[in-house]
Amino acid sequence: MHSFTELTAQFEERFTNTLPFPQNPATLYEPCHYLLALGGKRVRPVLCLMANELFMDISENAWHGGTAIELFHNFTLIHDDIMDKAPLRRGQATIHERYGLPTGILSGDVMCIYAYDALAAITLALPQVLQLFNKTAIEVCEGQQMDMDFETRNDVTLDEYILMITLKTSVLLACALKMGALVGGGLGDNANKLYAFGKNMGIAFQLQDDYLDAYGAPDKIGKQTGGDILANKKTFLLITALQNANPEQRVEIEALINGNAEGKVQAMLSLYAATGADKQCRDAVEHYSQLAFDCLEAVAIPSKRKVHLHELAKWLLMRDK
Ligand code: IPE
Ligand code: IPE
Ligand code: MG
Ligand code: MG
Ligand code: MG
Repeated sequence: MHSFTELTAQFEERFTNTLPFPQNPATLYEPCHYLLALGGKRVRPVLCLMANELFMDISENAWHGGTAIELFHNFTLIHDDIMDKAPLRRGQATIHERYGLPTGILSGDVMCIYAYDALAAITLALPQVLQLFNKTAIEVCEGQQMDMDFETRNDVTLDEYILMITLKTSVLLACALKMGALVGGGLGDNANKLYAFGKNMGIAFQLQDDYLDAYGAPDKIGKQTGGDILANKKTFLLITALQNANPEQRVEIEALINGNAEGKVQAMLSLYAATGADKQCRDAVEHYSQLAFDCLEAVAIPSKRKVHLHELAKWLLMRDK
């Protein structure tokens, strides 16, 4: 069994040395190389490899699955940064900022197709894998659309928010785990329990992402701090602040949302603290992590085989990047 640090290093080497893109047109493929060379945590492929290793020695099929999922994830980031008007990703200019909007659209599109090419190399349970992947990809689009729709609403409920982040983020982590199980011959119940583990972990992961967007160190997260506040994203923090606010605080929050005053981020952070939203967000990360660990516990595999997945999940939820 391998730790997540070992598998991250192995994946990183193999992935970056075997990128599938041709040379030309360089204007399309150079941006793909640019983003992928900036790294990232590589969490999703490692989840796929680890789930696979619960059932067998890690197989070629799991490497293909992990590659497909990492390419797909990076495609979603390129288009997400366009939608979110984000200037920075992994500490550098986003693709659309650096190369222009048409290139952002097309290099994202082509990366998504290459993800399918990696999937096509899988030789076991391919129909099930493809069905899972397609369902996940559709859900990500649905979640991303909800995220955009919520920018202009101030009445988004926590239930709606949880559904939105489940779709845009957590199903891909769950898919990575289930895919690793499927290509490892892990069927039915265990694959579904791993999926449930990934889903709850993914919710905690996005709650943490929202938290870091507000409170993270810019050099760690590699993104513009406060980007969600500037875009009026309906994060757990903002929804909770609105719910907890007294009438005066609510007026202040709504005035900040409706304007783009200098100091908007700082003022909103003060209101998060005053309404206790920051603390509640930490509690929510804790809550969904616990649900995730319960689901992992329920996977019918000896506990000692699950320690590395447990470690990875713990690290993800405490992460500062
Ligand atoms: C960022 O994902 C997008 C979300 C779903 C929150 P990651 O935090 O996994 O990004 P990288 O790949 O490590 O850069
Ligand atoms: C991104 O959510 C989800 C997807 C890319 C599908 P965010 O918009 O919060 O991700 P970051 O913070 O830009 O990485
Ligand atoms: Mg974004
Ligand atoms: Mg987004
Ligand atoms: Mg974010």
